[in-house]
Amino acid sequence: MRIDILTLFPEMFQGPFSESIIKRAQDKGVVEIYCHNIRDYSTNKHKKVDDYAFSGGAGMVMRIEPIAALIEKLKAERDYDEIIYTSPDGQTLNQGIANQLSLKGNLMILCGHYKGVDQRIRDHYISMELSIGDYVLTGGELAAAVISDAVIRLIPGVISDETSALTDSFQDNLLAPPVYTRPAEFKGWKVPDILLSGDDKKVEAWKEQQAYERTKQRRPDLLK
Ligand code: ADE
Repeated sequence: MRIDILTLFPEMFQGPFSESIIKRAQDKGVVEIYCHNIRDYSTNKHKKVDDYAFSGGAGMVMRIEPIAALIEKLKAERDYDEIIYTSPDGQTLNQGIANQLSLKGNLMILCGHYKGVDQRIRDHYISMELSIGDYVLTGGELAAAVISDAVIRLIPGVISDETSALTDSFQDNLLAPPVYTRPAEFKGWKVPDILLSGDDKKVEAWKEQQAYERTKQRRPDLLK
């Protein structure tokens, strides 16, 4: 997979993409991530990337020309399966969307800023608009990092234990059951006996029951 991120702040991605599983995925060649600075595509004398809204009101709008130039340059180089725009008014990201995106070859993610991008960018280039939740961030960068992380970890070979992504919360519309490791007792706090029983069938049934109970208690909406 290849992910191209279009942003005013490429350095914001250094942390999230240079550690842990996402770093390893890049080292293994499973994913290539390129961060492009939109400002580099501004032909404006002062490298201006925003301007006042025609409608007036507070807040700047990201200008159409530099973003269009960058998108068109990338599109001329390869086909993109989705061109995603991060915005609080997009569809809310969920595990199903992450699963679908993990099957794609080339993704582009445009990070919104200020009051957003000129609507014509959204009308003519964007194929998918994603929000990561009903709250407003200072920009789309953190959202793009979240989307990338959720997608990349699902690509086969990224997580060493192939089954572990399949047993995540949400994969079957259930939250994950509680987990324990050694020691079996700490300060008198005991691991449930059944997990020490060695009876795989009973353990499996316990896990399913716990997942169901947890979902019913915390996220009954998932069971509908
Ligand atoms: N940009 C600002 N807030 C956002 C959000 N919640 N999701 C995606 N992009 C955003």
